[in-house]
Amino acid sequence: MMAVRIDGKELAKQVRKEVSEGVKCLKASHGVTPGLAVVLVGEDPASQVYVRNKVKQTEACGMNSFHHVMDAGTSRKSLLSLIKALNNNPAVHGILVQLPLPAHLDSRDVIQTIDPAKDVDGFHSSNVGDLWTSGKSFVPCTPLGCLALLKSVEPNIAGKNAVVIGRSNIVGRPMAALLLNESATVTIAHSKTKDLPALCRQADILVAAVGRPRMIKADWVKPGAIVLDVGINRVEIADGRGRLVGDVDFEDVSTVAGAITPVPGGPGPMTIACLLANTLEAAKRAVS
Ligand code: GUN
Repeated sequence: MMAVRIDGKELAKQVRKEVSEGVKCLKASHGVTPGLAVVLVGEDPASQVYVRNKVKQTEACGMNSFHHVMDAGTSRKSLLSLIKALNNNPAVHGILVQLPLPAHLDSRDVIQTIDPAKDVDGFHSSNVGDLWTSGKSFVPCTPLGCLALLKSVEPNIAGKNAVVIGRSNIVGRPMAALLLNESATVTIAHSKTKDLPALCRQADILVAAVGRPRMIKADWVKPGAIVLDVGINRVEIADGRGRLVGDVDFEDVSTVAGAITPVPGGPGPMTIACLLANTLEAAKRAVS
């Protein structure tokens, strides 16, 4: 039997609808419009696309968007002073600095300057610490979206074996924390993991966040497993044109998995929807 296709576009639409309603309520009850500041340093083409989508969707759900573009040579001092100004601006409830930053800027240093109450990316060490100790943190948007996709097909995560491939601060680590908070038994795999296919075959829930096109094949996957594919890789097809594929070989793995996210149309759309939900939450906390 072919795997169920988990529709990230559809779920993201529902989340955005709920956020739009929440924004209307907050305006009516407190006269406050949630505001999200997005900071882009440099001209990375992929980051430009992501930021444009974030700005567009922020405005579409009735929030204010503050879009700051700085040139690639921006100094640490200028970037930190912009962040401090945004921290002190009451119209800004969420701050997102698009990553990666140019090499001369230390992303950790930059993230630690963001007020944790406005850190809607959930990257500040205070929010990371909260996530690992079951506190009320902002959770990074991609893993938060993945968890919602997972719950849409399997509400009972407790006791399941989960394997997360990738140990990044943006996806792998927070994904593992979220699954652990749901009482899954979690393994984080990475480039030094021995016999990765054998480890993956034990997973009831498999999350791929490695950045290697179609690395995961059907014989890596336990029959009936739920597979979440966070990879977004551009591969060349005929006559030099590109196409986006995940870390999972979708057609192959669909023959054994119980459910699987497509690329595009899986975790991608959910990431921005969760960013909007976190921004609304930040604004609600600011008025309460
Ligand atoms: N770059 C890739 N994903 C993300 C994300 O979720 N947040 C930020 N700030 N940068 C990213």
